[in-house]
Amino acid sequence: MSTLSVRVFRSAANGGEGTFVGYDVPRMPAQTVLDVVTHIQRRIDPTLAYRFACRVGMCGSCAMTVNGRARWTCRTHVARVAGDGRLEIAPLSNLPVVKDLVTDMTGFFDKWAKARGRFEGKATRRDDFARVAPGSAERKLADAGIECIGCGVCYSSCDVVAWHPGYLGPAALNRAWTLVNDARDTGNRARLAAVAGDAGCHACHTHMSCTERCPKQISPTAAIAGLKRAAALAALRGELEG
Ligand code: SF4
Ligand code: SF4
Ligand code: FES
Repeated sequence: MSTLSVRVFRSAANGGEGTFVGYDVPRMPAQTVLDVVTHIQRRIDPTLAYRFACRVGMCGSCAMTVNGRARWTCRTHVARVAGDGRLEIAPLSNLPVVKDLVTDMTGFFDKWAKARGRFEGKATRRDDFARVAPGSAERKLADAGIECIGCGVCYSSCDVVAWHPGYLGPAALNRAWTLVNDARDTGNRARLAAVAGDAGCHACHTHMSCTERCPKQISPTAAIAGLKRAAALAALRGELEG
């Protein structure tokens, strides 16, 4: 059986800088990066901290930086990313590290709230179901971003987030665009005002890293472009004031 040479980021016990520590892990058929981290934690060093839940690409909790690139680790096969038998595993960028491979996602989700990324409707239980035609343009635009699992891969890959920590980021803006196109939502005026500021959609430089790396094949870049158009139209109509 061959062996993988794995370097894993470990936090310093005293709150200092942290460093990479090397481990040898046996290669297995169909092994994922999450399997490698789990092997280290269960067989070599139980103090290694990392986060996962579903292991099937649903929960969004297992994202890490793998050989320099943010990825979901439960669906990333070692054979695809470590052809030379080497892996370097670090926490996601652009987020504070809690310990080892675990990042604090509070700021990431706070930005979803700032972008008014929650559904706002006015129908009651006595109203009939809203009927949204499957083929309508709004339905297609809303569906395009709805499968986001909140993994943070796009946020960690975005240079603008690194330069401008207040920037709402691709995931929160993708969520806002999904709701802007939801025919049942009634909160668009306030939502467009929330995403039109300096930290909102106009800060995006269209680098596309978010779209290239999103494991769910969502295009936050396209969502942000849509928000730029919608915010500009709302501004022309005087709807962003007050
Ligand atoms: S397209 Fe915009 S949001 Fe996406 S990575 Fe580039 S700058 Fe960030
Ligand atoms: S848009 Fe994609 S990369 Fe970003 S949080 Fe959602 S699923 Fe993850
Ligand atoms: S563990 Fe849930 S998406 Fe990877």
